[in-house]
Amino acid sequence: MASYQKQLLKSVLTFSSVILITAGVKAQQITIPVETETTALVLQATAGKDLNTVYLGQKLNNKADYDKVAAAYEQPNDYSVLFNSAYTPSGSRNLLEPAISVTHADGNNSLELKYVSHNLTKVDDNVSLLTIKLKDPAYNFMVTLFYKSYYKENVIEQWSEISHLEKGNVTLHKFASANINLRAGSYWLRQYHGDWAKEMRPEETQLTHGIKTLDSKLGTRADLFMPSVFMVSLDKPSTEDEGQVLFGGLEWSGNFRTDFEVDPKDHLRIISGINNYASAYQLKPGTVFKTPAFVYTLSGNGKGEASRNLQNWARNYKLLDGKGQRLTLLNNWESTYFDFNEQKLGELLKDTKKLGVDLFLLDDGWFGNQYPRNDDHAGLGDWQENRKKLPNGIAAIAKEASANGVKFGIWVEPEMINPKSELYQKHPDWVVKDPKRDEYYFRNQLVLDLSNPKVQDFVYNIIDSLFIKDPALAYIKWDCNAVIYNAYSAHLKNEQSQFYVDYVKGLYLVLQRLRAKYPEIPMMLCSGGGGRVDYGALQYFTEYWPSDNTDPLERIFIQWEYSYFYPAIASANHVTDWGRQPIKYRVDVAMMGKLGFDIVVDKLSTNDLKFCQDAITTYNSLKSMIWQGDQYRLLNPRENSVASVMYVNADKTSGVMFNYLVNNRYDEGSKAPILLKGLDAEKNYSIREINIYPGSKSPFVSERIFSGDFLMKIGFNPYVNSGRSSVIIKIDAVK
Ligand code: DGJ
Repeated sequence: MASYQKQLLKSVLTFSSVILITAGVKAQQITIPVETETTALVLQATAGKDLNTVYLGQKLNNKADYDKVAAAYEQPNDYSVLFNSAYTPSGSRNLLEPAISVTHADGNNSLELKYVSHNLTKVDDNVSLLTIKLKDPAYNFMVTLFYKSYYKENVIEQWSEISHLEKGNVTLHKFASANINLRAGSYWLRQYHGDWAKEMRPEETQLTHGIKTLDSKLGTRADLFMPSVFMVSLDKPSTEDEGQVLFGGLEWSGNFRTDFEVDPKDHLRIISGINNYASAYQLKPGTVFKTPAFVYTLSGNGKGEASRNLQNWARNYKLLDGKGQRLTLLNNWESTYFDFNEQKLGELLKDTKKLGVDLFLLDDGWFGNQYPRNDDHAGLGDWQENRKKLPNGIAAIAKEASANGVKFGIWVEPEMINPKSELYQKHPDWVVKDPKRDEYYFRNQLVLDLSNPKVQDFVYNIIDSLFIKDPALAYIKWDCNAVIYNAYSAHLKNEQSQFYVDYVKGLYLVLQRLRAKYPEIPMMLCSGGGGRVDYGALQYFTEYWPSDNTDPLERIFIQWEYSYFYPAIASANHVTDWGRQPIKYRVDVAMMGKLGFDIVVDKLSTNDLKFCQDAITTYNSLKSMIWQGDQYRLLNPRENSVASVMYVNADKTSGVMFNYLVNNRYDEGSKAPILLKGLDAEKNYSIREINIYPGSKSPFVSERIFSGDFLMKIGFNPYVNSGRSSVIIKIDAVK
C-alpha cells in the first residue's frame, strides 16, 4: 500500500476511535483559535463534530473567552446548524452555498464532513500552521483544512486538501479553498472591474441577502475583466484609517470564483476557490486535490492598515525576492514596436547607458523566420532569433549590452502560438482548440495546452535555451496576451473538464522548474497589462505590469488601487509617451514603484534628458524606502483634486511624499496642508522638495523644520497647482 494510502487509512481509524470515545461520554465542543497580533479566527467542533467558524474579528484579550463566543451569538432557527460551517458540504443538511460538492464513486451526491482531529504547529516564531482533518462518516472521503497564520503581518492563508479511498473516482463539482464567516450589521463590498488599459476600476456596494459572485472564466488572462482581490468593510464603508475591513484574494492564476452570501441570519459567508465552471474534477482514490490558498487580512483601522499588512506579508513571504533588489530599465516596445534591427538596438543600448538605468529590455518582435514576427499576426511559437533583424543572434546584443555596461533582458510569450507559425504546423495537437469548432483568436493567437507535459517541456525549454545562449541574461518579461476560447485539450481526451485546472497546474510546474534552476532572475509578470496579477503567480515573479495604460494620470488611479494588495516593489512603472503631462509628472508617477522607461531617449530635449538622468539618481537614493517602507495614502485622487501618497522607512527617520494634480479645472490645487502619516510625533523633520525640473524654482528654497506631531496634525502644503502639477517632498528626521 502506498504511504499516502496508509496515512489515509490511519486517519479513517483515528476518526472511528474519536466516534467510539465520544459515544460513551458527553461529547465536548473543541475550540480552536488561530491568532495573529490583532486578529482571531476561532473554529469550533461541536458536540456533533460539525466544524464551524464561530468568530473572525479583533482578537480577544483572554483566550478562554473564545469558548463562550458561540453561545453569545446563538440564534434560534439555524435549521441545518451548518450556516457557519468552516467548510460547507453539500447534499446532506446544507441549505446554503457549499464550499465542496461531490458525487461519490457509488453515485451518491451527499457529503457530510465531521471533525476528526487537529494539529497546530509553529513553523517559526512568526508563522503557525493549523491543520484540521474532516471525514465523511458514511464514506472514506476526507478533507484537510489548512490555516497558515502570519502573526506580525496579521495575514491568514487558507486552503484544503481533498482525498478519498472509495472504490472508484469521486467527481468534485466544487472545491473551494476557504469558507469564512463574518458577523456585522452590514457588509460593503469593494470589487474591481476592467479591460485592456482600464485595470482596477473600483465599485463599492452594500451586499444584500443572497449571493454576489466575483469570478473569471477567461482561463489564461483571467483578471482581464475582474481580478479576485476584493475588500469587505463591516458595518459601514471603511476609510483609509478607520473601520473594520477584510482584504482577500485567491492565489491562483486561472479561473476563480468568490461567492459572498448574506445568509438568513444576516451573516456574511465568503467562499473562494478555483472556479468550478466547466471544471468537474475526477479524483482518483488515494490521490490528493490541493486547492490554492485564499489569503486575507482583517484590519480594525481601515484600508491603509490592511494594505500594509498585505504588502508586508508579500515582501516577507510570497513575492519572489520581496526583500531584494530590482533593476531600472529601458524597454524598446513603444519606441520601436516590431521595427528594429541590430543597429537600432545598438543605439538603444547606448541610450540605456546614457539614461543611467541598469538594463535594456528587448521586447516583442525578435523571433520567427519562416513566419517573422513583424507584427502581431505571426511568429509566436517559433522562438529562434529572426535572422534579418538579428543576424548575429541574441548573444551579440547581450555582448553589446555588456560592452555598454548595462544588463540585458528579453520578452517572451511562451504560452502562446500564432496559427502562422512553424510550431502550429508541426504540433497542432499542442494547441488549445476544439476540433468541432472554428478557431477563434484573441490578438490573432491561440494558447498552448499546458496540461500536456510535452508542452510544459517545450515552454520550459524556451526560457532555458535563452539562458543557455546567453548565461548573462538578466531579466525576463513573460507576457500572456490571449484568453482561452474553445477550451479543448487534445491531450486530456475524455477528461476535458479538468482542462482549466490542469492548465494552471501545468503553468506552475514550468515556473517551479525554472525557479529551481534560475532562483533569482528577475521576471516581470505581464498579461497585456494586468490581465494576470495574483499571488499564485507572484511567488515566481519579482514584479508585475499593472497596465499597458501608462498615461500617468491614469496610472495614479491604477497604481493606487493595486497598491492596496501589492507592494510598490512589485509594480513595474514605465515612463512612456502616453498622456499629455510633462516628463517630470510622468517620471514622478513611475517612481512610486519599480521605475522603468519606454521612450525614445534621443528625442528628449536637453533639459528633459538631464531631468531623467538626475531623477534616476534620486530614485536610486529613495528606492529602498519606496520598496520596503510603509505606504500611507494621504489624499485619494477619486475624492480630491490632488493625489498624495507617502512612504516612510521602518525607523521613521525618513519619508517621501508624492503629490499630483489630478484635476485640470481652473485654479485647482492643494489649497490646504495635507496631513502626513506614519511619522514619529516626537521627532523633528526637515522638509524639502526634490526631483525639481532643471531651471524650475521651488517655493521651499530652504529646508523647513517641523515636528512629526505638527506634520501629522496640521500637515504640510506642497503647493500643487497647474504650474506645479507634480511635487515630491523629502522628509528627514533631524537632531
Ligand atoms: C503586451 C504588453 O503589455 C506590452 O508591454 C508589450 O510587451 C506587448 N504585449 C508586446 O506584444
